[in-house]
Amino acid sequence: MRLYVNIDHVATVRQARMTDEPDPVRAAVLAELGGADGITIHLREDRRHIQDRDVRVLMETARTVVNLELASTSEILDLACDLHPYQATLVPEKREEVTTEGGLSMTGASLDATAAAVDRLRSAGVRTALFIDPEEDALRAAEAMGVDAIELHTGEYANTEGEERACQLARLAHAADLGRTLGLDVHAGHGLTYENVAPVAAIESLEELNIGHSIVSRAIFTGMEAAVRDMAAIIHRARAAR
Ligand code: PXP
Repeated sequence: MRLYVNIDHVATVRQARMTDEPDPVRAAVLAELGGADGITIHLREDRRHIQDRDVRVLMETARTVVNLELASTSEILDLACDLHPYQATLVPEKREEVTTEGGLSMTGASLDATAAAVDRLRSAGVRTALFIDPEEDALRAAEAMGVDAIELHTGEYANTEGEERACQLARLAHAADLGRTLGLDVHAGHGLTYENVAPVAAIESLEELNIGHSIVSRAIFTGMEAAVRDMAAIIHRARAAR
């Protein structure tokens, strides 16, 4: 299983003062030293954390791969096609939200916009992924679009406890299996922490986890390299124990 580390919140701290530190690109170097298999960044329309220059510099310096999260808007798509990250993960985006709140809407006009974005990215030679809820209809719509991968939204799993969490875990496992059956690579992410990641990491059909806030939070105290190493160890133990 691959661990991609989302470094957006290093940039959040920098933007709080509109200065040049802490530098998310330095955080990426340390995340890679700690064992990250890839670096994830979300270039939001409002540029509240990651800036265009961060994407450019990261693309030039990353030793692993860059997974760019983006909404299907023409300005950001132009940039993505120009910068050519290894992977682009399409996500829904609302200006007033604190963080991504759910998977892409896979019906109506939103579905058409996503399909057009996938076509553009694919013609530019970028690997495509869709951030979706773990629902059969959404998975089948993603498959019909011809994307390379889906990222299952783990937010509902992360936000529940007890029996409800067990249900959400089963829902994720079922969706992951269906994704693999449909020939898609299956990723997952959002709200995963050192405490809740193990059961998700143990889902056989998942190949990639995208984790940001929890790792950056721990990195404040332990440093980025150790924070990533700790998360990677939990994930690898969970997979070994299956
Ligand atoms: N995956 C996607 C698609 C996201 O939008 C985010 C948040 O930017 C993450 C994963 C990481 O979520 P978290 O910061 O809660 O680990």
